Amino acid sequence: MSKVRIYTLAKELGVDNHKMLEILDGLGVSYKSVSSTIEEDTVELIKQIVEEEGAAVTGGGSEPDQAARTEPEQAPVEVQAAVQSGTVLSGTLEPAPGQLPVEGRATEAQPRPSEVAVQEVSAAAAQEIPHRAPVVTIMGHVDHGKTSLLDYIRKTKVAAKEAGGITQHVGAFEAKTSKGRIVFIDTPGHEAFTTIRARGANVADIAIIVIAADDSLMPQTREAIAHAQAAKVPMIIAINKIDLAQADPEKVKTDLTQLNLVPEEYGGDLIVVPVSARSGEGVEDLLEYISLTAELEDLRADPKGQFSGVVIEGKVDKQAGVLATVMVQEGTLHVGDFLVVGENYGKIKAMTDSGGARIKEAGPSTPVQILGFSDVPTSGDKVQSAKNEHAAREVIAQRASDRRDEEDARQRRKAQRSLEDIL
Ligand code: GTP
Ligand code: MG
Repeated sequence: MSKVRIYTLAKELGVDNHKMLEILDGLGVSYKSVSSTIEEDTVELIKQIVEEEGAAVTGGGSEPDQAARTEPEQAPVEVQAAVQSGTVLSGTLEPAPGQLPVEGRATEAQPRPSEVAVQEVSAAAAQEIPHRAPVVTIMGHVDHGKTSLLDYIRKTKVAAKEAGGITQHVGAFEAKTSKGRIVFIDTPGHEAFTTIRARGANVADIAIIVIAADDSLMPQTREAIAHAQAAKVPMIIAINKIDLAQADPEKVKTDLTQLNLVPEEYGGDLIVVPVSARSGEGVEDLLEYISLTAELEDLRADPKGQFSGVVIEGKVDKQAGVLATVMVQEGTLHVGDFLVVGENYGKIKAMTDSGGARIKEAGPSTPVQILGFSDVPTSGDKVQSAKNEHAAREVIAQRASDRRDEEDARQRRKAQRSLEDIL
């Protein structure tokens, strides 16, 4: 056996990736991501540790899939095992100097015995919030194959249906992949991502930057990368069209390096996956990397919590009227709920999922199309629920009055300035 990828070893030992990273942190082994490779002797050491910890770790089995993990009853068992083993680990293994656990990955760094109980409780509380599906935005230069790639994943033909094959609107789609549910947002260029973000809402958990292997980095590719970086959203590069004779994936990687984005195989931490939306080559790997990245992000949302969501797009349909695509972020939406968006409110008359099927309710990380707003809501606006129509009207009245106050204040400042100018 030679070098082994961290996630491969985790899978082999039936330990989840978080746990594996904790063990590595404990050993003072440095790594860039779960797809980094580790040396043979470290592998042996890890195997021993996992064996010694025995039932506490392996009792939970391998990482359950997304669906199983959303079962609330399962959480406590998993939590206990994770917490117990985590504390055992940090009590017995001294991390090397400067090898503090990576932020957000291992929270129980060397607790004193008195702290353990408290931490167990808070960790258990956090873990009871179920995992949610990742929301992935696909960005990149025109014609580099974003829609085609998504098409392949959805196994449907969206691009063929679009006028001229150019994405006209934002589409949010749920895909049931071999790695569980993943929500994809297709964008014309990256316009929607920018407008939504400009309004203070981050919808995407992960950004896939699609780069055509025969074209390499183009202006909109650079912009997309800059947007993902500014949003601090983890990026995965998909080098597309590798089926073409003139494809040159190596050039793409070298060009990326010039932007200080160093692919893993060059010793950096950038995940780069060569794919072909035409033949499907590499698409499974891409999905695997998405689910690995999502796992590390530890995405959770409470379906029983207070509802909140974001408008992905709003439009007027000649027959149906105002339609809004909303991403549910927290809580659950039900037909009949009152919603408030900006200074607009509505009652959900009907709701459809991304496949066009009528649904009665929708939980976290679900894009839904809602019928029931009187005005077209703006992309990126936050959506909240209200107890009833009266409450919804009150919220809107307050917002309108706040806005008027702000406008008045602005007018006064302007008048003051021109007065100063005159004087
Ligand atoms: P915009 O939405 O306009 O920004 O384009 P897009 O990035 O969504 O590209 P789209 O999927 O529409 O693909 C553009 C063209 O590239 C189409 O003619 C596709 O058939 C072609 N294409 C996409 N992926 C591949 C691929 O992997 N291999 C080959 N040979 N052609 C591809
Ligand atoms: Mg497209």
